[in-house]
Amino acid sequence: MAAGLIKRGWVVAFPTETVYGLGADVFNEAAVERIFKAKRRPPDNPLIAHIGSIEQVGSLAAEVKPFARDLMDRFFPGPLTLVLQKTDSVPLIATAGLDTIGVRMPRHPLARRFLKACGTPVVAPSANLSGRPSPTTWRAVFEDLNGRIDCILQGEATEIGLESTVVDCTGHRPVVLRLGSIGLDDIRSVIPEAVVTDEQVHSAPKSPGLKHKHYSPGAAVRIVADVSAVKDREGAAYIGLTRNGTDFDKHFIARDAAAYAHHLFEFFRECDREGIRTIYCEAVPEAGIGAALMDRIRRAAQG
Ligand code: TXA
Ligand code: MG
Repeated sequence: MAAGLIKRGWVVAFPTETVYGLGADVFNEAAVERIFKAKRRPPDNPLIAHIGSIEQVGSLAAEVKPFARDLMDRFFPGPLTLVLQKTDSVPLIATAGLDTIGVRMPRHPLARRFLKACGTPVVAPSANLSGRPSPTTWRAVFEDLNGRIDCILQGEATEIGLESTVVDCTGHRPVVLRLGSIGLDDIRSVIPEAVVTDEQVHSAPKSPGLKHKHYSPGAAVRIVADVSAVKDREGAAYIGLTRNGTDFDKHFIARDAAAYAHHLFEFFRECDREGIRTIYCEAVPEAGIGAALMDRIRRAAQG
């Protein structure tokens, strides 16, 4: 049913293993434009095309380098987006004027069924209002986009809770533009030459979306190494791994970094609903998903 809506040019939110996406037919410019409108997304921020089968890469990408093929073999379907040279048939509105397109094949069972039924690649940014935390529940999608989109495919809370790892595959080696649950070490286990972008020190970012305000709750976000040092706990919330946080107005103690990542964005949203002023986020070691988690927390703290 929802797949039929995509073919008719409507916009449909759907769950993936990372966060919920807001999808439209990549080849339907009017539908793609509606995504930007619904999200209030800046037009210079490109979208990721989601595929239900590997064959669909052919309609999107003009060139797939051997190392990109190796990454697909290893990580598709999964939380990885590869940036590839686009074909002429991909409209520029989807890629924000770039000649490249991000391609991802989700592994979430409902997303896979939906994408297969659509029969066309589906461009989908995270299904939040621009600048807000990405939605990890269908209720978060509803909260931001009710009345602005056509349909929400309701699934469970998303498993990973942070967006996919984005890797630029247009150069001579993979360049990680955004960290996700697949880390640099995972990419290097397939292509040892892979590097992380140093765009933070350049003025023209390769991944335009990263320069925009991101992941921000209304509350101020502070990063703390030692939560016991925080005295001001009224109107404040704490999320982290250490138990010493329980006399805050609100807290979430995660059993490990994966559970912390899974809960982070929904915790931000809960804090906003409850009028929390400051959210203290405990710093975690930047290993495994900890690296992506700290990346998102840092961006939220800048917001
Ligand atoms: O996990 C995810 O990736 C989720 C789910 C729905 O798949 N999608 C998502 O989309 O996070 P979005 O639009 O919120 O973030 C896409 C990121 C942005 O930082 C954007 O700049 C970057 O990917 N990106 C997309 N296409 C690109 C391209 N052609 N070149 C460089 N960066 C690109
Ligand atoms: Mg987003």
